[in-house]
Amino acid sequence: MSGRETAARIADLRRRLDDASHRYHVLDDPDIPDAEYDAMLRELDELEAAHPEFADPNSPTQRVGFAASGRFEPVAHAVPMLSLANAFTDEEVADFVARIEKETGDAAPRFSAEPKLDGLAISLRYEGGAFVRGATRGDGATGEDVSANLRTIKSIPLKLRGAAPEVLEVRGEVYMPRAGFEQYNARARELGDKPLANPRNGAAGSLRQLDSRITAQRPLAFYAYALGEVSGALPATHSEVLRWLRGLGFAVSPLVDVVEGTDGLLAYYRNVGAQRDELPYDIDGVVYKLDRFDQQRAMGFVSRAPRWAIAHKFPAQEAATTVESIEVNVGRTGAVTPWVLMAPVHVGGVNVTRATLHNADQVARLDVRKGDTIIVRRAGDVIPEVVRVIGERRPLDASGQPLHAPYQLPTHCPDCGSAVEREAGEVVARCTGGLVCPAQRKQALIHFASRRAIDIEGLGERFVDALVEFGYVHGIADLYRLTVEDLVEMKQRSDEAAGVVPETVKAGKVATRWAENLVAAIDASRSTTLERLLFALGIRDVGESTAKVLARHFGALAPLMAADEEALKDVPDVGPVVAARIAHFFAEPHNREAIAALQAAGMHWSEGAPQRAADGPLAGKTVVLTGGLAAMSRDEAGARLEALGAKVSGSVSRKTSLVVAGEAAGSKLAKARELGLEIWDEAALLAFLAAYA
Ligand code: IVH
Repeated sequence: MSGRETAARIADLRRRLDDASHRYHVLDDPDIPDAEYDAMLRELDELEAAHPEFADPNSPTQRVGFAASGRFEPVAHAVPMLSLANAFTDEEVADFVARIEKETGDAAPRFSAEPKLDGLAISLRYEGGAFVRGATRGDGATGEDVSANLRTIKSIPLKLRGAAPEVLEVRGEVYMPRAGFEQYNARARELGDKPLANPRNGAAGSLRQLDSRITAQRPLAFYAYALGEVSGALPATHSEVLRWLRGLGFAVSPLVDVVEGTDGLLAYYRNVGAQRDELPYDIDGVVYKLDRFDQQRAMGFVSRAPRWAIAHKFPAQEAATTVESIEVNVGRTGAVTPWVLMAPVHVGGVNVTRATLHNADQVARLDVRKGDTIIVRRAGDVIPEVVRVIGERRPLDASGQPLHAPYQLPTHCPDCGSAVEREAGEVVARCTGGLVCPAQRKQALIHFASRRAIDIEGLGERFVDALVEFGYVHGIADLYRLTVEDLVEMKQRSDEAAGVVPETVKAGKVATRWAENLVAAIDASRSTTLERLLFALGIRDVGESTAKVLARHFGALAPLMAADEEALKDVPDVGPVVAARIAHFFAEPHNREAIAALQAAGMHWSEGAPQRAADGPLAGKTVVLTGGLAAMSRDEAGARLEALGAKVSGSVSRKTSLVVAGEAAGSKLAKARELGLEIWDEAALLAFLAAYA
């Protein structure tokens, strides 16, 4: 190749790689297979290595990072990076709108409404359409040059698309998507590294790396939301600027909208708030910005914040409280889970008094003790968890030593007194009492009766507790021997024990009706399917999908019970650990007796011939479903794909034939891309299903 040809080839590769990267990381709409991208990148890398005269810090090859520089140089912001005033209530938002209406004389000013990302504010400077420098906010006047780290973030364009002004500073938020955060922490735990406290800290810490190769390994992304210094003319409104930035190649949140009036702002707040838990990243509120720049100028600034914008915050997801005591729960498989009883605290919009500590390792890592001040976090419907201890507030004795010793998990089960043991390599400690342990028995019954297992309507936790407590039920088969009289008597005893004395005729009738309904529900549950039964038995590590695979593979219970570990390992998706657990479960006399008792009590399940080689258009293909589908549940989609011969699996590997990625798909989609697998969106799935309907 001549020098000119080489230069042209390099330019062509860079343009094509930039396009592909923009489609993938900004538009979320990839158009070439990963393998093709990789091949182009490799070719470019080789050409650049052979021709250093064509080096460019903004080449797609430069996103991998490089070794430590000494420190971060200060960068003065030509236009200061401001912060925002906060609103916490509807009234504060109404006041904000009223102030603007009054001072601008506009009765219906329009606002750009945007999610408030919980990351790190960054300013990116472009000259002649090329990225030259990026800096943190710092104190607003001077930040730090973190260009090398920012170059590794794929959604930050290194070259702008189309006509760009000579000087352009774009501001926005660098954030760590939740899926990436979870993945990072899972890996950190595996390697014994320190996990990140939350995605925000993850983003901040990643940008502070002196070795940008480390930053390049971190899952970071960028959304643009404002401008700094710009040469040349600008559109007249903020919303037009955001659109313009999209055109230049920046990612702008798809949730931005233009709204009007206090009601419009509040509706936006509630709408985004309702989606908060499902978003692939953390947000801590929304931001309203007066849309017209002339009106923004008229409103001006106070101290460090504009008067034309406000952040409307969501209820905090983290709060501080104190530990009253540390307790443990014993689960169905004997897992001993420590949790804290705390002084009531308002977090994530509700009052809570309990937070989980997950396991003994977590207790040791956090070193939570009685009396400690802790930070708890509650996101959506997940169980609140302890995030960290505020060490400075630990209560001390007269000699300055901690008042309480480090917490130790009990050595014996608080429910049955059996030893608590922890197998080598396991994070979870377990009560060894098995079904002798009332706590495990209760959990086993609750699981058995749950909706996705045998589905006994009306048999909730409360009644299971009483049934076990008062000795009406020992094993699962006892459920099928309960009579209306038993249940009425039990209810009476449990009411008495609780100090409730409903001695009226009406209460008696209500109790009888309740008992009749429950007996009818139990009766109806006698007829079930093999896969539900297998899931309901509560064999460790046999979830719904493994239960389904086992039911299909063996067709009936008897051959499954007779199968040894070797035979079990032949079942798709069953590895040596699960095979051993299944074999162990069926080898235990008390489990065999429980199954015989179920049959004796009239329980029966549909059995069929084993199905090994399904036919259909997807025969022999392994499909993974990830993300949310709009038209149907993932379960339903899985069932329909199975009906066409597919094997549906939960994890992506080289053996996966196809990944169906719905809304907000995360790490599985990323992995599929990495492996260059075939990926369908929901539309492709629906089209396929329709073709075979
Ligand atoms: S605008 C002059 N828009 O919130 C306005 N900020 O408290 C400057 N933030 O430091 C900021 N999402 O880190 C703006 N859509 C958004 C934002 C946003 C998150 C952060 C940003 C800033 C802080 C202000």
